[in-house]
Amino acid sequence: MKNKNLKVIVCILVLQFSGAILKAQNNNTSMKELYRPQIHFSPKAHWINDPNGMVYSKGIYHLFFQYHPFSTIWGPMHWGHTTSKDMIHWKDEPIAIYPDSIGTIFSGSAIVDKNNTSGFGKNGIAPLVAIFTQHNMDGEKAGINTYQNQSLAFSNDEGKTWTKYEGNPVLKNPGIKDFRDPKVMWYEAKQKWIMTLATADKITFYSSANLKDWTKESDFGKTLGAHGGVWECPDLITIDDNGKPQWVLIVNINPGAPNGGSGTQYFIGDFDGKNFTTAQTDTRWLDYGPDNYAGVTWSNTGKRKILLGWMSNWLYANQVPTETWRNAMTIPRELNIKHVGKNIYVTALPINELKKLEIKPIVFNNIIVNKSLKLAGKVGKISMPCKINLTVDATNDFSFIINNTVGDTLVIGFDKKQNQFYIDRTKAGKADFNKDFTGRHYGPRLATTNKINLSLIFDASSVELFADDGLSVMTSIYFPAKPYDQIQINCKNKLNLSTLKFANLKSIW
Ligand code: FRU
Repeated sequence: MKNKNLKVIVCILVLQFSGAILKAQNNNTSMKELYRPQIHFSPKAHWINDPNGMVYSKGIYHLFFQYHPFSTIWGPMHWGHTTSKDMIHWKDEPIAIYPDSIGTIFSGSAIVDKNNTSGFGKNGIAPLVAIFTQHNMDGEKAGINTYQNQSLAFSNDEGKTWTKYEGNPVLKNPGIKDFRDPKVMWYEAKQKWIMTLATADKITFYSSANLKDWTKESDFGKTLGAHGGVWECPDLITIDDNGKPQWVLIVNINPGAPNGGSGTQYFIGDFDGKNFTTAQTDTRWLDYGPDNYAGVTWSNTGKRKILLGWMSNWLYANQVPTETWRNAMTIPRELNIKHVGKNIYVTALPINELKKLEIKPIVFNNIIVNKSLKLAGKVGKISMPCKINLTVDATNDFSFIINNTVGDTLVIGFDKKQNQFYIDRTKAGKADFNKDFTGRHYGPRLATTNKINLSLIFDASSVELFADDGLSVMTSIYFPAKPYDQIQINCKNKLNLSTLKFANLKSIW
């Protein structure tokens, strides 16, 4: 009798406890933690890395991502899934693709197969097709080289459910250890699919008429660009350059980025359906900061090219001090082309949709800063997330000092002599989780104009810097003990701010 009562009490307690957890989740309390991004996508719980399978279809932007549903540490990868109407607000979707006997689900892409070339379509409706790497952990342990192969899955209900193709894998490994991250695009001129694949220290292009049978076209890059690590997550796109398409090849690399660890380089060139060629001799980076990796673009967005990156770095991604979840994505960025002298660069700017989050933006013109200016004195209370836009003379050093009440300090600045922007997180908060985390990171100024336009987007634990219409970009994460709530602009003598715009931003959760 006593025992039975006890069981009932335990049962009630368990039910109440799980009810409380559910309620907490529904109230989204976990989405308001200290380090939780308020304007960036992050998972409610557990581990994420690369954005995958980004495709736009019927008014919905799909974002899949490398996901470990049982841990905050990288492990057997699944494709998590979230959807959005504006790439800013996100709706949770069930896990889309699970590991199977061929392997876990590594990075890859998704397309709308408009002409049903794959035959996966039903009732005249175009299927969504996902093309991804399957990573066989047993094969890896056994020391064979062929444990990464490319597979397909398709969806006939706009991404809600996915069926793996029975003929998987569709592209077998020829004996290259790192053979992964297929990004597939439709090559209109020759009416065929092109797969851009990272094959160790180079890119290999394949083509197919039906997404199932692939033929090797060519290799690119073995002796070009940065080679401090393995090439991963490539993307071949065209970006409109005054009415003419400019071919761009994006190649992620880890390690070997300009500020250590993971980074994203790109090549300006030409593609003829078989070969990618470039005259570029220097190495160019889409983001010079430490925390934008594995970025690729959404497919099926027409002329608009939107890149999303993983806002972390393999140097410390598994150790950052968040408890129930790990890692977030960057703000989606619109890519454009800009000519500076004889050089052609890719620029990246936050998508326009972000403006929706601005709360009563305040604009000033022609402010002269005498040595220093406390922003709160001009704009009132400062809280995260927020956004600052300004136009400033490029003739002198200046910096932003971002503080909280317990003395954590983030410094962002421009070093005129070195012609570099920098973000210094040495004293920005918790950093003891990894020896490579702290430091001052530099990114070159590529523009030659005498005014800099600068946009800084702050979230609870990140800043994204866009200078000169997106020619110089840097992303950095940090972990202050308390939210930052003070911003001061410093300069040597006088600084002319021709425009200054400040806005607190609404949380997306
Ligand atoms: C890049 C990457 C990819 C791979 C995935 C595994 O961050 O290493 O090359 O597919 O992550 O999670």
